[in-house]
Amino acid sequence: MSHTDNQLILKAENLKQHYHVKQGFFKPDAVVKAVDGISFNLEKGKTLAVVGESGCGKSTLGRMLTMIETPTEGRLAHLGEDLLTLSKDAQAKLRQKIQIIFQNPYGSLNPRKKIGAILEEPLVINTKLSKAERKEKALAIMAKVGLKTEHYERYPHMFSGGQRQRIAIARGLMLDPNVIVADEPVSALDVSVQAQVLNLMMDLQQEFGLSYVFISHDLSVVEHIADDVMVMYLGKVVEQGSREQLFNNPQHPYTLALLSSTPQLSPEKRRVRIKLEGELPSPLNPPSGCAFHGRCRYANDRCRSETPVLRLNHANEQEKDHLIACHAVEENRIEPLKEQVA
Ligand SMILES: Nc1ncnc2c1ncn2[C@@H]1O[C@H](COP(=O)(O)OP(=O)(O)OP(=O)(O)O)[C@@H](O)[C@H]1O
Ligand code: SF4
Ligand SMILES: [Mg+2]
Repeated sequence: MSHTDNQLILKAENLKQHYHVKQGFFKPDAVVKAVDGISFNLEKGKTLAVVGESGCGKSTLGRMLTMIETPTEGRLAHLGEDLLTLSKDAQAKLRQKIQIIFQNPYGSLNPRKKIGAILEEPLVINTKLSKAERKEKALAIMAKVGLKTEHYERYPHMFSGGQRQRIAIARGLMLDPNVIVADEPVSALDVSVQAQVLNLMMDLQQEFGLSYVFISHDLSVVEHIADDVMVMYLGKVVEQGSREQLFNNPQHPYTLALLSSTPQLSPEKRRVRIKLEGELPSPLNPPSGCAFHGRCRYANDRCRSETPVLRLNHANEQEKDHLIACHAVEENRIEPLKEQVA
């Protein structure tokens, strides 16, 4: 395997997905800005975590990255090649290199097919491998994800949730992808099983040089697996940076609230408790200015009228590449973050 350092695998620029939603016969269509201008770079062997509450646009982003949906705007490049202007044939080929794994693998595993057939299906469709070669490959990948040879002849219902997620991961690996978009891959699993699947994913990443886009509503789940983190709120990124920046020096009030809602065992990491109050606003009718203003303890008039731009925090110049969209951060109005815990 060749290891080229810092090889840019996926580059997204200002990606948007705006859905037109019918409101009835006599009303004009409403527009849901499910994803509203997202940019990132994903390097070989790295993990970008995408975090935010339900409805913030995580899965929509995942569908665009895997070309299940075409963005309404923006650019997406895989290894420098613009995905959105490629011919259908070339797109289909590239799609093999960017695989997706879902939260509920049971829904995506055909209950009438044995594991062997499920794993070999992508090979039947996309390769010229013989039956024997397909079986060899399936068994090899099964071993990599911790499944046994005898599982080849079994049906999905005979497996536990964690094992089914291993099957889904194995299927995602059958075509030697560069990127795996994992949409809440462990959210349906018990905590103890979550750790096993996360460890497996990290091992596979090492072995195959995979890049991950790891989607989760839970920041604590991504603390160990992420290299970079993107926090989303109503279709927009509110904070983006390295794992260290996000977990050791979080800035945006929404990130602070998400972090304070996850239990912290080590006292030095405990933070001021900030309760996330109020409902998530409707994406059909998003608030003016900063979309978070109705739930933010730092909101002022400027927040209610002017949308903050995602930018570097100039007060802190050594914080390279740490982007925040918040007026209060820019105005230095946020209180010290950590609280002494008795
Ligand atoms: N095909 C569609 N047509 C119209 N609106 C859509 C469509 N798909 C998603 N949406 C809306 O876009 C927004 C983002 O949805 P999305 O499923 O991407 O969020 P999510 O962050 O994955 O949420 P969850 O954590 O619940 O999975 C939501 O308001 C959703 O209702
Ligand atoms: S811009 Fe204003 S409302 Fe939005 S997060 Fe910052 S302080 Fe809160
Ligand atoms: Mg989702």
